[in-house]
This record gives sequence, C-alpha cells and structure tokens, in this order.
Amino acid sequence: MSFQTLPKIELHTHLEGCAPPDFIRMLAAEKKIDISGIFTPAGGYDFRDFDHFLKVYEAACTTLQTPDDFRRLTLAVLEETAQHGVVYMETFVSPDFCGGGDLVAWKDYLAAMSDAAAEGEARFGITMRGIVTGIRHFGPDACKPAARCAAETFGGFVVGYGMAGGELAGRPADYAYSFDIAREAGLPLTCHAGEWGGAAMVAETIRDLKVARIGHGIGAIDDPALLREIVDKDIVLEVCPGSNVVLKAVTDWASHPIARLRDAGVKVTVSTDDPPFFHTTMTAECDLLHRTFGWDAADFAALNQTALTAAFCDDATRARVA
Ligand code: ADE
Ligand code: ZN
Repeated sequence: MSFQTLPKIELHTHLEGCAPPDFIRMLAAEKKIDISGIFTPAGGYDFRDFDHFLKVYEAACTTLQTPDDFRRLTLAVLEETAQHGVVYMETFVSPDFCGGGDLVAWKDYLAAMSDAAAEGEARFGITMRGIVTGIRHFGPDACKPAARCAAETFGGFVVGYGMAGGELAGRPADYAYSFDIAREAGLPLTCHAGEWGGAAMVAETIRDLKVARIGHGIGAIDDPALLREIVDKDIVLEVCPGSNVVLKAVTDWASHPIARLRDAGVKVTVSTDDPPFFHTTMTAECDLLHRTFGWDAADFAALNQTALTAAFCDDATRARVA
C-alpha cells in the first residue's frame, strides 16, 4: 500500500532544514562559499550526532543570505513536500537566519517567504504557514528579538511562535520572557522539548512557557502523571519519528514511543522535521508507521484530524485545507 497520495497535514518542519543538499550546493557555488565538509561523498548531509547536526545545519544556512534565496527555498520546499500529499504545512522560520533578528530586515525576508508561499499554493496546491522561532542554544537574549519579530508580524503567513535548537541549553524558565512577548501579542506557542531533555523538560516547558504544542515530546512517555497532564490540558505533540531514529533520540522504530503515547490518550501528530537531513518524507513516515505499528489509512486520517485541529492557522484556512 502506498500512502503517498493520502492528504496530509504536517505541523513540524524547519524551513532551512527542508533544503535539499543540491539546493544548498547551488547557493554555495553561486556565492563561492566552501561548505564541502558538510556533505557525504554521495552528496547527502553528513553529521555524527545531534550537536554535529546543529553545526552542519548552521553551515548550510550560511548559503541562505538574501530574501530571494528564501523565496527560492520556499518554492523548492513546497514543490517537494506537495509530492507527498501534504496539503498544509507549518514551518519554523528563524529571524536569526533571516537578518540576524533585525525587524526591518526580517520583514523583507518574511515578505519573500510569504509571497513564495502564495505562489507555491497556486502552483502546487499546498498551503504553508510560518512559526517564528528562537534558537535555544543562541541563548535567552537572542530569543527576545525573535519573539519581537513574531509579535510585530503576526497574522497572514506568521501564525505562531516557537523555540528550536539545542534543548539542553538552559531551562525553559530562562526563555519565559520571549514566550511572554509572543503570548501577549496573541500568538499560539510551541516549543521543542523532550527530544533530549526527558519528561522533566516537557513538564517545565508546559509549566513555564505555557505552550499549546510540544515539538517531539517523546520523553514524556516515562512519566505517567505528566501524560495525564498532557491529556487533561489538551496539549498536542509534534512527533517526528524518522528524525528521532536518525538522530538516535530512540534506538530504532520498534522502540519509538509514538504508539504508546497515542494509546495513553495523548494527541500525537506526525512530521518530518528536516526531511533531507533524515532521508525521510511524509510518505516514508507513514510507510514506517504502517510497517512498525500496523497503522493504516484510518489511523492516518485520525492523525490528520488531530493535526488540523491543532494547526495554528485561522479557521478559514483550516476549513479550506480540510
Ligand atoms: N532544528 C532543526 N531540527 C531540529 C531538531 N530536531 N531539534 C532541535 N532543533 C532543530
Ligand atoms: Zn524540530
């Protein structure tokens, strides 16, 4: 059974992390930047572990310099993602990689991405919205301008605020100020937690950052009381199984907790995170969930419904992509 054509909703991708290696090599050649060290001899991204992955990711980002680079990237990502049946995707966009947190520059980059999203929607039939994102290992002070960029541009393409990056940098409370800025501006919130930091990091993230969704959240499986809290508070997990396997957050697909989380009543969704880095697609994620846990078209329809309800877009967009 191929799941490629099933309509899919994907809530957790990183725009730069969706860049195909060939696209990054093309930009590097145009700009005469030597980043040959980040690729395997076969041409894929080369990294040893999560910390090294972040370094390779940031090296790839050095080739993305102008708003037009982000326009081209957005179109390339939409064309590729639409081929896997994705009809709506949310993607993390980082002011740190788009003008260094400067609001005026950010607006130029945002206009390029937003225009490309509109063009991509018309050409490929996929809707994209952006979640403005602080990068945790750049520190709490760097996340404040990111949150201000989010607050100043909320509406239209920008639908939420979040935080990605090295999860073990500081505690959630250290980032509360930037989340407060975004919350007070009315943005829905998500934060990577429990990819590396275990159940305690998920619990603190919910308590101190008051998020509606958690990126990954798989560490929660070890704490039954926390699972009940997640269910009671209706918090949705953006689970990225293929990413977790490749980055070795879990040993293998069979031991991935997504099925146990779902069985505990947690609202789980499925996403690819950074598909070319992890050699995955939404089709591949569905195939592996089918092979590993026996999930079928009915399970994927239910997952999609959860994702649709948890999407940060407005209700008119939600109704249109349903
Ligand atoms: N940025 C891109 N991918 C990420 C991941 N899996 N975890 C944290 N930050 C990221
Ligand atoms: Zn992520």
